[in-house]
Amino acid sequence: MEIGKVGVLVVLVVLVGLSGWSSASDHQHKRKKAVFPEPAASSSLINIIQSSVVFPLYGNVYPLGYYYVSLSIGQPPKPYFLDPDTGSDLSWLQCDAPCVRCTKAPHPLYRPNNNLVICKDPMCASLHPPGYKCEHPEQCDYEVEYADGGSSLGVLVKDVFPLNFTNGLRLAPRLALGCGYDQIPGQSYHPLDGVLGLGKGKSSIVSQLHSQGVIRNVVGHCVSSRGGGFLFFGDDLYDSSRVVWTPMLRDQHTHYSSGYAELILGGKTTVFKNLLVTFDSGSSYTYLNSLAYQALVHLVRKELSEKPVREALDDQTLPLCWRGKRPFKSVRDVKKFFKPLALSFPGGGRTKTQYDIPLESYLIISLKGNVCLGILNGTEAGLQDFNLIGDISMQDKMVVYDNEKNQIGWAPTNCDRLPKFKAAIL
Ligand SMILES: *[C@@H]1O[C@H](CO)[C@@H](O)[C@H](O)[C@H]1NC(C)=O
Ligand SMILES: *[C@@H]1O[C@H](CO)[C@@H](O)[C@H](O)[C@H]1NC(C)=O
Repeated sequence: MEIGKVGVLVVLVVLVGLSGWSSASDHQHKRKKAVFPEPAASSSLINIIQSSVVFPLYGNVYPLGYYYVSLSIGQPPKPYFLDPDTGSDLSWLQCDAPCVRCTKAPHPLYRPNNNLVICKDPMCASLHPPGYKCEHPEQCDYEVEYADGGSSLGVLVKDVFPLNFTNGLRLAPRLALGCGYDQIPGQSYHPLDGVLGLGKGKSSIVSQLHSQGVIRNVVGHCVSSRGGGFLFFGDDLYDSSRVVWTPMLRDQHTHYSSGYAELILGGKTTVFKNLLVTFDSGSSYTYLNSLAYQALVHLVRKELSEKPVREALDDQTLPLCWRGKRPFKSVRDVKKFFKPLALSFPGGGRTKTQYDIPLESYLIISLKGNVCLGILNGTEAGLQDFNLIGDISMQDKMVVYDNEKNQIGWAPTNCDRLPKFKAAIL
């Protein structure tokens, strides 16, 4: 039961692990006080420290086209597969409220249980423009629309999210999420139970956990080019000195944007300058605005004109594919034809901050054995001037969105293994 208010420490429902208690004492300076009515067994009073949560990720960029995380929600907890989306705030589940329009989902629909968030709740206000008046004071209606045309409409509820922390603690905070009873699938529809909103806004899961005092307001992910990877909340899974950081733009409410970058081909050719880029785990591919896209395609075509590849017009995998003399088996087979890309951010002082985009991070090999450009025309996708760095270009890197220090960071990482924790328990 949550009895706190915003800015006040909130009471959490917790399952206490013995091992967590011992590691908690190592970090007394970080402690926050809270009370834990335990749902099943005995209750106990302990202090929480700020820790991290790690989730394995499943899926791949191609052929599947999305990653997902398995999360248990509710009392008793039931599993759901959610799309981790750093491009939006609100988490929601396809919901039997009853459902008006739901898409195919891997698990039975979520059922709300008298856990509606009322209209006056500050969480509800954060989902609406200032001055918004609810139609029904006893509930909070929401509607989220995504750039690909998809949407979810429903009511806000609060439910329990059992989480295992890296210090061994098990907590079950009550967090707000959408009970989505009317979904319209967009162009990049994924057959999942819902979305895990990881944006900067108040309703995002990370912000909510942060306001309850259990994690630092940091989210990160590591997706592997071999599929899978991991997602984490909190800041003790990486060595900050090994991460390359660039400041985040402050005037963006939901999105993690850092600007303005220069796109470079082959280490020296400028493709485009002053790109405002947004890091978005909810997007499988990378998108550039029409002009930047045009410039990139022009340069890539020029490079390829002398090479033994032809445009494969019959391959519909992505808008632009090329065929070689023989079918390609992996991106290694096209190393001679393509050059790596990089984004160069103006760093503090003399050093420029570079974000490498090797071939694997912008090309895919289609099932037909052609090589396709995994950077798409964002204007065509309705993104206007947005430039999105999608999963394809974040592979084999740890990408960290640090809302405490207002910076985005990255570090080349083998994402196939879960990281070792300082107080390894999991
Ligand atoms: C937490 O860890 C326990 C013990 O390993 C496991 O049974 C449980 O499923 C985990 N819960 C979550 C939410 O990961
Ligand atoms: C990108 O998409 C827009 C909108 O559909 C279109 O007008 C433009 O020509 C496209 N650019 C390229 C280079 O294909």
